[in-house]
Amino acid sequence: MLTVPVITIDGPTASGKGTVAHRVAKHLGFHYLDSGALYRLTALSASRHGVALDDEEALANLARVLPCQFVKGHVLLDGEDVTDAVRAEAIGVAASKIAVLPKVRQALFDLQVAFRYAPGLVADGRDMGTVIFPDATQKVYLTASVDARASRRYKQLKEKGFPATMEDLVKDLAERDARDTARSAAPLKPAPGAYILDTSEMTVDQAVQTVLDLYVNAVKLS
Ligand code: DC
Repeated sequence: MLTVPVITIDGPTASGKGTVAHRVAKHLGFHYLDSGALYRLTALSASRHGVALDDEEALANLARVLPCQFVKGHVLLDGEDVTDAVRAEAIGVAASKIAVLPKVRQALFDLQVAFRYAPGLVADGRDMGTVIFPDATQKVYLTASVDARASRRYKQLKEKGFPATMEDLVKDLAERDARDTARSAAPLKPAPGAYILDTSEMTVDQAVQTVLDLYVNAVKLS
């Protein structure tokens, strides 16, 4: 049986992996998994159901039956369009807090694996290459300096009309990096064999092309 190809793109918050992964998927005609959205949706669902961010059992129960849909770039929760709401900074911080809980990660495991179907998948997150798709065709670890990431995030938030300051964003990113890399459950780190791509000085087009070239080479070698 032929295995369905997967490109994993892991990396820290605001490294640009979402944009790059989405563009690579579009170019190849592959499906796209934004795994961070699942943690964000769980956090949003928790806030709506009044579930505390340290109630591991209740959070895992929410995650296991997350009523979410991804439709043409829109994210739905319980049928409601929450595309902008899940991107809010407060929800990102909450997502990073619940992502340390092993039962929440386990509850989201099957949902993520189910995104792998023909003709292929591009998956972005923190543990796509290490835990969810360890047999990926090509693994990439996409990173950028904290300053580059903070200024990208600043631009994104301003465009969406969310309030933000560079000072808060740098602090927030550093805290989130620390939480994502220091946790014991599936910490953020390059997967074995991952190509480390630092995009601090790169355009999105260059990063997308690099990933596409890596994938083409990986397919040739397989
Ligand atoms: O990529 P993002 O900023 O949307 O992710 C939000 C949070 O979810 C992030 O701080 C860590 C967590 N996350 C994770 O632990 N594992 C993933 N595969 C994706 C996201």
